Amino acid sequence: QVLILDFGSQYTQLLARRIRESNVYTEVLHFDTTFEKIKEYKKLKAIILSGGPSSVYLQDAYTIDKKILDLPVPILGVCYGMQLLTEHFGGKVELANAQEFGKTTLKLEDLNSKLFKNVDKQTQVWMSHADHVTKVPEGFEILGYGDTSIAAIGSIKKPIFGIQFHAEVTHSLQGEVMLKNFLFDIANCEKDWSLKNFIKEKMNEIKAKVGDKQVILGLSGGVDSSVVAALIGRAIGKQLTCIFVDTGLLRLNEDIEVMNAYKDNFDINIKKYDAGNIFFEKLKGLKDPEDKRKAIGKCFIDVFVDAARDYKNADFLAQGTIYPDVIESSSSSKAAKVIKSHHNVGGLPDDLQFELIEPIRNLFKDEVRQVGLELGLPKHMIDRHPFPGPGLGIRVIEEVTKEKCLILQKVDEIFIRRLREEGFYEKVSQAFATLLPVKTVGVMGDNRTYDWVVGLRSVNTIDFMTATSTHLPWEFLDSVVNEIINKVEGVNRVVYDITSKPPGTIEWE
Ligand code: XMP
Repeated sequence: QVLILDFGSQYTQLLARRIRESNVYTEVLHFDTTFEKIKEYKKLKAIILSGGPSSVYLQDAYTIDKKILDLPVPILGVCYGMQLLTEHFGGKVELANAQEFGKTTLKLEDLNSKLFKNVDKQTQVWMSHADHVTKVPEGFEILGYGDTSIAAIGSIKKPIFGIQFHAEVTHSLQGEVMLKNFLFDIANCEKDWSLKNFIKEKMNEIKAKVGDKQVILGLSGGVDSSVVAALIGRAIGKQLTCIFVDTGLLRLNEDIEVMNAYKDNFDINIKKYDAGNIFFEKLKGLKDPEDKRKAIGKCFIDVFVDAARDYKNADFLAQGTIYPDVIESSSSSKAAKVIKSHHNVGGLPDDLQFELIEPIRNLFKDEVRQVGLELGLPKHMIDRHPFPGPGLGIRVIEEVTKEKCLILQKVDEIFIRRLREEGFYEKVSQAFATLLPVKTVGVMGDNRTYDWVVGLRSVNTIDFMTATSTHLPWEFLDSVVNEIINKVEGVNRVVYDITSKPPGTIEWE
């Protein structure tokens, strides 16, 4: 219904979330998407031009196929988007003397504008710009000012609007009202996007596409592939076979938990491949984190391909690609760091060609979680912290062995269980333990010990690009450390990592 053309703003995904929260379906497309492609969207109700780091007056400035601006749908330009509209319709944009960054008061000029219905004459908004509009195009009027800039413009004849501030950010106190005005009063969007509908539609789509054929899916135990398994499983039952590769680098009892979650709730085939020994063999002697990542990734593909060859009748391969992966890999934002999971089984050999099914590729992470809950996956499987593709392979520092993994699994189980028991798990973004390649001297009872050190880490973050360590209560940490040292043989010292990111990363390797 609503298309967002993305110029690389850090807030583009947030904008899309806000719109979907209003029950309106939206997609984010790269700014240079062609007019022909956009015309294929038959239910198009509005176009939003996002913010972005470029400057419209530069020679190689990001721009759009200008025919798009003639489409008979309302248009909203946000920040860079407003500047692009200004430039296009004959106004002027220049570098401002002073950047406007942070909270600003929007002072409305035109209280009758539909965009600002029920918005106060003065309201706090969030600005983040260095360029500003210095001359409004002919046929446009100024709808509001910021502290040092023209903050909102509108075409007199057409439903075309520009706002310099970011209405999608919660610091824009009435931003939600403005976005809803645009969606419902100006663009006449319908509230027909809901996850229940999504599930129903996807199930029908999958049934129609697959017919009586077979689908295989690489199940990792992570949220995304689990939800895809549940969704496809509900649609086609035993025509789905999940290949679950136990790398030996999973959390304690994770293999059993994954198997049980499906056995109890879903009528699908799951085949578990115990490949731990293969992985440990390949990891022998490797110390460098990137070498280990590569070895684990390659090994995973080899095992998966071997397993997939057992399913000669499968025509489809399902994958848990989600929307942020799609946006990141096509985004104009060069700054976005793409983390490749080794579970992405691209590059399969020629004799194993499948048609892809990616039913959640248009969902955000929290929407994926809601779909999972709706489909009956257990809550503890859905609310999990992220777990890196290479698993404990990058949490056992330097050389990875089965013995070290077993020690780390026990420590991790205690830390995570205690976080859950004491209500911290849901309040932190990611928590885990790391086994260091260091032995230290300790004393237990009357005996000298010489054992391994583990590091505990808990971080809070919004996007995993930056993070701060969680201020867990001292008493809690004290008691977790006690439990670890008393129960896990081979560990006699525990440290808590308080480094933020940057300069540290979240994982130690
Ligand atoms: P870093 O350590 O880079 O981690 O601050 C950011 C987030 O990414 C996860 N991570 C990975 N995920 N394969 C993955 O699938 C990897 O190789 C990998 N390395 C880090 C990490 O757990 C954190 O959530």
